[in-house]
Amino acid sequence: MSEIQQAAELLAAGALVAMPTETVYGLAADASNPAAVAKIFAAKGRPADHPLIVHIGNIAQLEQWARDIPPAAHALAEKYWPGPLTLILKRQPNVPDAVTGGQDTVGIRMPNHPLALALLNEFAKHGSGAVAAPSANKFGRISPTKAAHVKSDLGDAVAMILDGGESEVGIESTIVDLSRGNPVVLRPGAITAEEIETTLGAHAEMPPATPAPRVSGALAAHYAPRTPLQLIASDELLKQVDACVFKGQTIAVLGFSVSPLRHPAVLWFAAAHSAPHYAHDLYANLRLLDAAGVDLILVERPPEDPEWRAVADRLGRAAVGSGADDEREAT
Ligand code: TXA
Ligand code: MG
Repeated sequence: MSEIQQAAELLAAGALVAMPTETVYGLAADASNPAAVAKIFAAKGRPADHPLIVHIGNIAQLEQWARDIPPAAHALAEKYWPGPLTLILKRQPNVPDAVTGGQDTVGIRMPNHPLALALLNEFAKHGSGAVAAPSANKFGRISPTKAAHVKSDLGDAVAMILDGGESEVGIESTIVDLSRGNPVVLRPGAITAEEIETTLGAHAEMPPATPAPRVSGALAAHYAPRTPLQLIASDELLKQVDACVFKGQTIAVLGFSVSPLRHPAVLWFAAAHSAPHYAHDLYANLRLLDAAGVDLILVERPPEDPEWRAVADRLGRAAVGSGADDEREAT
């Protein structure tokens, strides 16, 4: 039996399978099976009212999970699927409450990774053909972009980890809410609000300043390393490094230049200069910075233009959520 067949059978039997996607690795369970979906929440330590994204392998499956689908949804699905875009739509009555957190909407996406698509299509022969899948990390921690990240975070909680190499995009999908009229971008991602607007010929709102917790990725303390992390403007970076060294702190720096200094207390990582490359490396870099065992992580603030918005969003949340668990907000 092939690995994909084995994974599909595990899903049909109600087990959890970690699957690679182009954004981050997902922790997948049969979306039609509430008991299987419950295992996701247990494995992640995630609060039960946080809704999950339903992943499908074929645009034709959209109607099985969503109703009253507006033309904008078809336009976006045709343009960006398979790809890093999640659509929030009115749910079909058969979608389990365990998936939607009891809301009247459901998040749906078709991932663009050959193993994920092969798994979903094989699973369509054995079962519903759709999986509910959050990022395959412990709740509130750094999302996994490699099979080894999943193994170290969730280990024995998953029946199988499909290794599909490094996630190409590296940050979670853009989420667009189409369930209440005008499109609203609930989570920025590789597909920008400007691209959504161009495709739809309509204004796309950005999330409100204090997002409601119905989008768990919108909680401030997300994507967070355990080491305290500070974002520093480019022209302040070296001054801050000096100040930390002077205080006797050990630091790890993620900066855009190569290391301008050699000091035993400073570990310097040079970041990629393009937003897509930076995003690709971001979570692996955060894990390395966190594993360095330093007192403080300093990250040079990325540029302000739209293509950096998703990266800036994740870094901002990493800064807010960083630090030891008992020092973090109980979100
Ligand atoms: O790229 C991705 O989207 C990855 C891969 C695995 O597909 N998945 C992912 O899942 O990031 P997760 O659970 O870590 O984040 C899903 C986000 C959460 O913030 C959740 O609140 C939001 O989607 N979401 C899901 N259903 C929703 C709904 N009906 N209304 C509003 N937000 C929803
Ligand atoms: Mg997540």
